[in-house]
Amino acid sequence: MSMRDDIEKVLISEEELQGRIVQLAQEMNAIYSDDDPPVLVCILKGAYMFMADLTRHLDFRHEVDFMVISSYGKGTTSTGVVRILLDLTYSIDNRHVVIVEDIVDTGHTLDYILRNFASRNPTSIRVATLLNKPSRREIEVPVDFIGFEVPNEFVLGYGLDFIEQYRNIPFIGVLKPAVYQSVLGED
Ligand code: PRP
Repeated sequence: MSMRDDIEKVLISEEELQGRIVQLAQEMNAIYSDDDPPVLVCILKGAYMFMADLTRHLDFRHEVDFMVISSYGKGTTSTGVVRILLDLTYSIDNRHVVIVEDIVDTGHTLDYILRNFASRNPTSIRVATLLNKPSRREIEVPVDFIGFEVPNEFVLGYGLDFIEQYRNIPFIGVLKPAVYQSVLGED
């Protein structure tokens, strides 16, 4: 059995991902300039691949930084309880900030980050997410750059995991129900 046998279908192909990421980068290139370089904040772990590909197409000066966020109760009922496991290495005081996410689902993680960053006095905050799952939203959050809207399915690959695995798959796929049922139970 190979890891690929666990994938039911390809939802967004590698070519579609890469094409859309170029477009998102162009949207950013039209907004930001070398005069006031922004900080791009990658929310680990899921956004690492998107961040790496996105920044390759940016033509303005910028810095990159990383945050690890943990949310409790994911997968079953979302509690909305979020905490920072690894914080930024530099201050965002008086800086333009772009938050880079792989997916906005209930919105609790992003809501927490936005409220947390607002108290650090950035010049501006924008949000880029590769995937958006609006059907699952529990709290309204502003998102400026969206790669793709996805249905309420178990999506993984291109940074997104199932039990910390499958992140390396170069496309967005849907996991076979039998795979997650065998791990999570039948409910
Ligand atoms: C995912 C994703 C977002 C968050 C979105 O992270 O990267 O940060 O969940 O969900 P929400 O909108 O319901 O808050 P996850 O906690 O799975 O960690 P990971 O990025 O390390 O896989």
